[in-house]
Amino acid sequence: MVRIWKKSKPESDAASIPDPHNVPKHVAVIMDGNGRWAKQRGLPRIAGHHAGMKAVKRVTIAADHIGVKALTMYAFSTENWTRPQEEVDYLMKLPQEFLAIELQELIEKNVQVRMTGWREGLPAHTLAALDQAEADTRHNTGLILNFALNYGSRREILEAVKTLARETADGQRDIDALTEEEFARKLLTSGLPDPDLMIRTSGELRLSNFMLWQSAYTEFWFSNRYWPEFGEADFYEAVKEYQRRTRRYGGLK
Ligand code: FPP
Repeated sequence: MVRIWKKSKPESDAASIPDPHNVPKHVAVIMDGNGRWAKQRGLPRIAGHHAGMKAVKRVTIAADHIGVKALTMYAFSTENWTRPQEEVDYLMKLPQEFLAIELQELIEKNVQVRMTGWREGLPAHTLAALDQAEADTRHNTGLILNFALNYGSRREILEAVKTLARETADGQRDIDALTEEEFARKLLTSGLPDPDLMIRTSGELRLSNFMLWQSAYTEFWFSNRYWPEFGEADFYEAVKEYQRRTRRYGGLK
């Protein structure tokens, strides 16, 4: 088993570390550009995804180091099923490869592994790896490393609306009394705070059906780097930019 975690030290240059007093609680990441990174190097797309897996680890270390509470990585969307079968199959193998290498270190780092997305349609081997990791880290209290897998926000919202409509029709709910907090509890992200910071790599400037409800007041940060090139220093740069922003939530300060 390859164990690189302990050797990979977070950046020690104090100037490059964000202010510890204003760290985003929840950071969500759209990991884009794996295919282009591979193409640039004359490699198959799956090589880009493999390199992207390594970036997941770098960013997990960085997030943990500065005290982020939750890190959600958009690993596979409900729309990604339309990709070539070979690519889909490869992407579905990455959670188990990642966890086979890293789970022990994640346990030692007090990280809680989670998954957000629909289980149906996911291969048994993918679910087994994630379920095992979730079970093995259930009692941990540190960083939540949340993989958004087979996730799509429109469907998430639609399913919540259907549940609420059924509860209303059954007479279990007074729909006029429904609050935003109750609605949020019907979403797949129930229990997680809304993301404070969202990062998207590769120069693309869109949400791609990711956390549409949850990102109402999220701060966005876009990087031109392809995801496999993204490192700790980039993550800290994003957090430092976040710390320079004033969040007003529609108010005046
Ligand atoms: C989008 O880039 C990326 C994805 C659909 C997959 C992201 C998955 C990973 C980075 C690996 C996840 C790791 C674990 C452990 C689950 P793209 O391939 O569409 O890039 P392109 O736009 O350049 O083609």
